[in-house]
Parts: sequence; structure tokens; C-alpha cells
Amino acid sequence: MTDDSDTLPEALADEIRRRVFAPGLIRLTQTLTRQGQPFRISIRPVRIKGQDLWQAEMRDGTQSKTRNLTEPAARKGLEDILAQTGKRELHLVTTEGDLHVRIGKRGTPLVSRGKPKAAPAAVVPAGNDRTKRQPLTNFDSAPLLRVLGIAAADGTIRASMRGKYDQVNALLRALEPILPETPPASFSIVDCGCGKAYLTLALHAYLTQAKQWPKVTTLGIDRNQGVVESARAMVQALRLEGEVDFQCADIKDAQWPQTPDLVMSLHACDTATDDALIMAVRTKAQRILCVPCCQHELHHALVGGGPMRALLRHGILRERLADLLTDTFRAQVLRICGYRTAVMEFVSQEATGRNILIRAQRGLRPGLGEAIAEYRALKEFWGVSPYIAQALPPEEA
Ligand SMILES: C[S@@+](CC[C@H](N)C(=O)[O-])C[C@H]1O[C@@H](n2cnc3c(N)ncnc32)[C@H](O)[C@@H]1O
Repeated sequence: MTDDSDTLPEALADEIRRRVFAPGLIRLTQTLTRQGQPFRISIRPVRIKGQDLWQAEMRDGTQSKTRNLTEPAARKGLEDILAQTGKRELHLVTTEGDLHVRIGKRGTPLVSRGKPKAAPAAVVPAGNDRTKRQPLTNFDSAPLLRVLGIAAADGTIRASMRGKYDQVNALLRALEPILPETPPASFSIVDCGCGKAYLTLALHAYLTQAKQWPKVTTLGIDRNQGVVESARAMVQALRLEGEVDFQCADIKDAQWPQTPDLVMSLHACDTATDDALIMAVRTKAQRILCVPCCQHELHHALVGGGPMRALLRHGILRERLADLLTDTFRAQVLRICGYRTAVMEFVSQEATGRNILIRAQRGLRPGLGEAIAEYRALKEFWGVSPYIAQALPPEEA
């Protein structure tokens, strides 16, 4: 006999639905006892002949059955799993981490969570063709990758471009938590210091092809005429005219769209990162993804430090400290300007030393008193006035 008390709480069921169909699923398993026999069902992602599918495996006692499902069928299968009642255990493993739900005799779910066991980039899907499951494998990205020069004519990733490919995938994954869950009517992106437009074009393709968003407009800005021309040629080759555009301009002087939905800046040089953040704040961009590059601004400006002055004596320590402080000021200023801000590593140190990512989303009340006080104390302690202060209203800078 079962009743509603042992169905999964809706919030938990929703979380499972979201995570099973987001990139990063490793496996979902449910185990229970049916007619005295152990019954186990699991779903895992597979890639077969270039198509992303979900493999469902059922083990009923000693019998086992496997089926490869398209997304609609997999969604239906998941609903059947979630609708189960009675004593059971459900275990979800994704690159976000583990979720374990145990429902005992009383019907109350006991939920525990664990950290990810594998770094996202290292996850190999159980696909029959053993391709790594990555954001760029969620759609037919071969034409894009060929045009970008990341893939060879036969579609395989060039050894020399493997790092770039992994980096773009890591950025797409890092972006996921701040993207709208349902397709927005329109979405505008600005990529500052876009260079050869790897990320610019990959993100555009990911949103329009993997996520099927109906209207994405993307602008790449770079002051180097050569890279802008090659990026424009790629737009033509991919037939993306009218959707993706490039401007040859300084970030500060470019013609920006009103209120971009996302501003990115990947390894833009020195204070170009700050210019991107300042423009993002001024245009009230909804989301920001930024990976700073070389940072020279504070290296010679640091004068204070009180009892920590010894940190300034040795060149390499001074340089690292200046880098850390620069990014600390950036994150702090974004908080003051009303952005929920996270700072994280997005790839390993071996892949690139410039692996700090600042991710921000508008949504806080601007001018948080505590954040302003911390910012002022930091400035005073190190005797500096950071470039990013230009993003702040004059009375707070
Ligand atoms: C290291 S590359 C990175 C390119 C690209 N984002 C990537 O990660 O592949 C930096 C790019 O930023 C551009 N850049 C630097 N400062 C800029 C500025 N103030 N305005 C516009 N572009 C700038 C450079 O021309 C260069 O193409």
C-alpha cells in the first residue's frame, strides 16, 4: 500500500529532471525490491553515431534489458522512475556532484549530497564511440570547429587545438548556472577582446543549436583589424550574417547594444578586462563572464601593506599579490554595483596559468554598505586606486 507521503518532493524531482538533462550527467540509478526480487534501473548518456542518447538499463532479478532512448523517450522514462513509490534508493551522479535519496518504510526521503568525484573535463561518457561528453558534443559542432580551425577536415580535434577546445568547453560549462533555464525570446552577447572568435562563435552555436534558443545576437569587439576580418570571414562561412557581428574598435569606444544579456571577456589584455567590466556595468549587462589575463596595473602601484609589506620585496610575490588584488577589487566592485559574483578556477593550472574566472549576475541591491566598507579598507591598506573603480559612482570610488 502506498500513499502520497512516499512520492518525491516536487523540488527534489525538479532538481533531478534538470540535472539528468543538463550536460554533466554521469548516471542516475534507482534500486528497489519488486516481487521479492531486486529491481534496478539506470540512465546514462551515450553518444552513438554522433547522436546524443540516453541509455536505460533495467535489471529485474537476473534478467537485464538495455535500450537507447531519444530525449522525449528518456524524459518519459525518467517520469516513470520519479513516480515510483515504496521503499527505494535513488543515486544521481553528475559532474556537479552526487545526490543520494533514500526512502524507507516511513516514506520520508533522506537526502545526502557529495562533491563531484571527477573534474568535469575528465568525464568520459559511456558512449559507444567513447567521445567525451562536452557542451560542444551536444550538437553537431563539426562544421563550426572546422571553420574555427579547431577540427581537421575529418572532424577530429587537432592535437595543437585540444587546449583551446577544452577551454571553450570549460567556459560553456561555467556559464551554464547563470543562463536562463528556459529559452528566452531574445538574448544578446558582447565578447570583448574576442580575438579569433573561438568563444564568440562557439557560444553562439551552443545557444542556437544545442539549446535551440530562437534569437541570439552576438557582437565581438577587438581593436585588431586582422582578427576582426578573419572573424567576419568565419561568420560568412557559417552563414551567420545578421546574427553575429564584429566591430574593430577599442572596448570603450565600440557601439554597444542596450543592456546586453551577457558580456564576456576571455584573456583580454591588462586593463582591457576592466574596460569590459566597466562597460558591462554601465550598460547594465545582466550577466558577466570574465577571465582576466596579464595584469600590470597594480604591480608598481602597491605601496601600503602595513605588516604585510614584506610581500612587496620579491618580484614574483609582488606580481602574484598584485594579480590577486586586482581580481579581488574587480569582484568587490561588481558586488557593490549589484552583481552576485563568484570567482573560481575554470581549467587546471597546467592548461593555463590564467585560469581564474569571474562570473557575475545582476540581482543584488547596488551599493551594499559592507561591500563598500571592505573595498575602501582594501584600497587604503595597499595605498592604491584600482582602474576598475571607474565602474563605481564617483562618491563610492
Ligand atoms: C589574448 S587575446 C584573447 C582573444 C580571445 N578572447 C581568446 O581568448 O581566444 C586578447 C585580444 O584582446 C584584444 N584587445 C586587447 N585590448 C583591447 C581593447 N582595449 N579593446 C579591444 N580589443 C582589445 C587584442 O587585440 C586581442 O585580440
